[in-house]
Amino acid sequence: MRKSLFFTVIAICFGALLACQHFGKPPAEADGFWTYITEKNLYTDWEFWPGHDGIYPGKSPHGAYLKLYANPAAIKAVKAGKPMPDGAIIIKENYGKDKKTLMAVTPMYKMKGFNPDGGDWFWAKYGPAGKVMKAGKVQGCINCHRVMQTKDWLFTQPK
Ligand code: HEC
Repeated sequence: MRKSLFFTVIAICFGALLACQHFGKPPAEADGFWTYITEKNLYTDWEFWPGHDGIYPGKSPHGAYLKLYANPAAIKAVKAGKPMPDGAIIIKENYGKDKKTLMAVTPMYKMKGFNPDGGDWFWAKYGPAGKVMKAGKVQGCINCHRVMQTKDWLFTQPK
């Protein structure tokens, strides 16, 4: 009995280690982050932000239509009503008025210690094929999202 428990624990640890190695954490750096979300841990396989399934109308300055994805760490926290943890990723796809043309991808990635003055978020804006338009401690993003700083810098709250 004890022995089987021991092996179960070893198996779980090993599994967790493999899972970590597979997904790891992305770097807070433009190209490495894009590679992570499009090759290592494809964001379109993630869940939509609770209450925002599929495509929905957006507001300026973002797309006319939006899709909002979040990684499991972010989903778990938002469902539990907890602040976004280290490693949380929220990715917004911005579409044109035709609801089909992807105009830009704007993620937020929480990395503890990255930028306490900006909610510790890494901000970026990519073209539809991954061209880096902005990345890092982007003042434009920070200055506008700052009004939501008591809500983890997020405008979109769970419904
Ligand atoms: C002028 C204000 C403004 C600027 C600048 C801005 N945003 Fe936003 N952002 C918003 C608003 C408003 C929403 C809610 C979107 C909606 O529902 O249309 C939003 C939503 C988001 C979301 C979904 C999570 C949330 O907070 O609701 C992400 C991710 C995001 N923005 C990333 C960025 C990034 C990255 C930049 C910079 C490249 C940026 N934003 C610049 C106003 C802004």
